[in-house]
Amino acid sequence: MSLFRKKSIDTILKNAEAESHHGGLAKHLGVRDLTAFGIAAIIGAGIFSTIGKASADGGPGVILLFIFTAIACSFAAFAYAEFASLIPVSGSAYTYSYVAFGELFAWIIGWALIMEYAIGNVTVAISWSDYFTSLIQNSSSYRVNEWLCLDYFTAKQNYGTVMGMLAAGVPLDEIKSNGQTAGLIEGFMAYGSAPKLFGMRIIFDGPALLINVIITMLVYRGIKESRNASNIMVIIKIVVVLLVIFVGAFFVNTSNWNPFLPNGIGGLLSGISAVFFAYIGFDAISTTAEECKNPQRDLPRGILYSIIICTILYVAIALVVTGMVSYSELNVGDPLAYVFEKVQSLHWLSSVIAVSAVVAMASVMLVFQLGQPRIWMSMSRDGLLPPAFAKIHPKFKTPSFSTIFTGFLVAVPIFFVDINMVTDICSAGTLFAFCLVCAGVLKLRMDPTAPPSKFKTPYVNSKFIIASLFILTIVLMSIYNKPWVDYHLKFESFNAFLTKIPIYFFFIGFAILSVMAFKYNFSLIPTLGLLSCFYMLSQLGYKNWLYFTIWLIIGLIIYFAYGRKHSKLAPQKN
Ligand code: ALA
Repeated sequence: MSLFRKKSIDTILKNAEAESHHGGLAKHLGVRDLTAFGIAAIIGAGIFSTIGKASADGGPGVILLFIFTAIACSFAAFAYAEFASLIPVSGSAYTYSYVAFGELFAWIIGWALIMEYAIGNVTVAISWSDYFTSLIQNSSSYRVNEWLCLDYFTAKQNYGTVMGMLAAGVPLDEIKSNGQTAGLIEGFMAYGSAPKLFGMRIIFDGPALLINVIITMLVYRGIKESRNASNIMVIIKIVVVLLVIFVGAFFVNTSNWNPFLPNGIGGLLSGISAVFFAYIGFDAISTTAEECKNPQRDLPRGILYSIIICTILYVAIALVVTGMVSYSELNVGDPLAYVFEKVQSLHWLSSVIAVSAVVAMASVMLVFQLGQPRIWMSMSRDGLLPPAFAKIHPKFKTPSFSTIFTGFLVAVPIFFVDINMVTDICSAGTLFAFCLVCAGVLKLRMDPTAPPSKFKTPYVNSKFIIASLFILTIVLMSIYNKPWVDYHLKFESFNAFLTKIPIYFFFIGFAILSVMAFKYNFSLIPTLGLLSCFYMLSQLGYKNWLYFTIWLIIGLIIYFAYGRKHSKLAPQKN
């Protein structure tokens, strides 16, 4: 069917080769640069910021979440590594899906990846801005205006809430001093003090916009410049992360690890999106395939090395942070800096962490801002996007139009979105891509004519393992019937039913996968990757599924209006 028309690996490689002879991208990257790019993309807002809330909700048991997520991501990393070595071109998961599932899926994944890279960068830019403004304010007498640090809608909402409380007779000082309401003050001040243009209040996150512009300029300027900047930033953040682990280890009080799961499994799982967000990024290096000197050898290594290094660092950090203070104190935006502020003799380290957080997040933005234009470039080469997206700058050898367009796409939501919403949506888009890449490897290996990849995931037959796992899960659920795995269709209320839709989908998928794994002797690692990523996806809450579905529908409309007709695989009219 033409919706699923496929490209052969041979054609893709030949086209990429032809592009490289006609002023293609510059090839400067080796395995060390790729590993550095991986670490640059992984360690950022997740560990420096969003895991604070995950630790407060999940307690010290958040370590389990870090380990589980690392295992799931490693399975997906194997799938990426296998594809990256087989099809070393810039499109990453988009191109892999084109080969495995055909054009429609390729488009869907390319569209979903915008969630990961462009929307992910909105999260990182906003976190960067939080750290940056508090750094400036703590180290100087300069105060950044509130209306220059926040998005419009949050400010408006907080203003309304505070005005309501004031009208109800709650004094402003009390609102400021109460931990539950203190966070509203910034928005209240921002909205109250904002200048007006044509009657509209001007409120936006200035530092987030500024870093976006700087990163866009750097990425536009060249891959070599981006690589050098990334390598320096990675060294800084690894040194600081190691410092946190080794110094922090001396201040761990093991009694803080008890209770281990204060809010049960439910509390732990509510942090899944934040912890997963901390791991996102290793896949981004596959988008630089056409800028690697030896992509088939180096890409799989870069992907796997970076995820192994980051997993070790993350588990150690989680142990230190939850061991230094009680989990209940960790609901802060800067958890790493916070735990060191609590120790009198280590205040200096808290400032060092704040500086390195700013560097770390800038490096994540750099790699994501590199990844997004290269995917668009591939989609444009295939005719699914207008030709401008594939334009390469004659001097800087970077996808110029796509790079600027990415900067624009990151900038717009900075004006009006809330950070928690974009984090969840980014995790949803990325998990969806991981599921498809794992499924793609399984599909490809069912095709006896598929060429062998230079990097091959070790094969273990999953025939009995997945089916046994499915039966075991059902048995355990029948015995314990915990609310988090409540599979009984109790239609107590429509809302309760809605919230469970994702988990029902997961169990249906699990059942189908068990049968297929049994029938087709699926390889264990990609099968477990698919299963674990799908499970995480099912834990993201039905609202994120809803937003994501709306996003996909918009994408499909664009595909049918433009991409399908202009695709290079579309039948040519005479
Ligand atoms: N893993 C990246 C971060 O935490 C997205 O910022």
